[in-house]
Amino acid sequence: MEAMNKIEHYLNVAKEISMEAGCFLKKNFGNKKKIEYKGDVNLVTSCDKASQDLIYKKLKSHFPHHGFLAEENLEHRGEEFRWIIDPLDGTTNYAHGYPVFCVSIALEYRGKIILGVVYNPMLDELFWGIENKGAFLNNKKIKVSSTKELDKSLLATGFPYDLRESKNNNINHFNNFVLKAQAVRRCGSAALDLCYVACGRLDGFWELKLFPWDIAAGMLIVKEAGGRVSDFKNNVIDIHAKEIVASNGLIHSQMIEILKLGEQNGEVKSQ
Ligand code: IPD
Ligand code: CA
Ligand code: CA
Repeated sequence: MEAMNKIEHYLNVAKEISMEAGCFLKKNFGNKKKIEYKGDVNLVTSCDKASQDLIYKKLKSHFPHHGFLAEENLEHRGEEFRWIIDPLDGTTNYAHGYPVFCVSIALEYRGKIILGVVYNPMLDELFWGIENKGAFLNNKKIKVSSTKELDKSLLATGFPYDLRESKNNNINHFNNFVLKAQAVRRCGSAALDLCYVACGRLDGFWELKLFPWDIAAGMLIVKEAGGRVSDFKNNVIDIHAKEIVASNGLIHSQMIEILKLGEQNGEVKSQ
């Protein structure tokens, strides 16, 4: 358990590095940058890679025996700890000069997420959480909203990068929710969407085909803020889940009912 006693230290290092990477992204925001395509609509900029290099090098120098999993092709086995990193969540926004993006870093210990930090440099907002110790925005404790009805709820979602090829692309869930919720947003950063559920700016969020680096930190922050996280059938999930619903808890079962409608209407599950 000696290793776990250092959690405050891990947190401080993660906070510092996420802010450093975020400031780098902010400094380069709006500059012309090199863009490559991973798919039809899935792009990556030179700043995604530079941010990842910065985060990896710094974390590695502090914790040479830890493992790593990061979006831009980085996977290293470690001992008991593993850092899960999205060096730039909201790449499409960033590439277009739309100021909604963040850096997300989570720490896993023996297969369980124990801390998460999400930094939005444009608003200087640092969301963070430690398992069983709560969730915070900068230095203030945060909690989920108290909205009880879906009809009065502000939701967010996103669409997978294979939306042109796969029928399991979230469009019919979106159609269903947009008629039942107060409003639905597509902000372009799943990690920020989760943090916004955690601090009550959003009442709920759902998405499919996300990756561990998109959700590891945000999921913990939602749970620590008193929210609920599950798959579309209301089962408990881990960071590898391909469906996620996060809410204030109070509207969770109403969201699950709407997601069932999508399945009944012929949503294809297997692609
Ligand atoms: C994306 C964002 C977006 C979500 C996509 C993700 P990226 O991450 O989180 O909101 O809808 O599915 O892949 O590519 O900007 O790191
Ligand atoms: Ca991402
Ligand atoms: Ca990314």
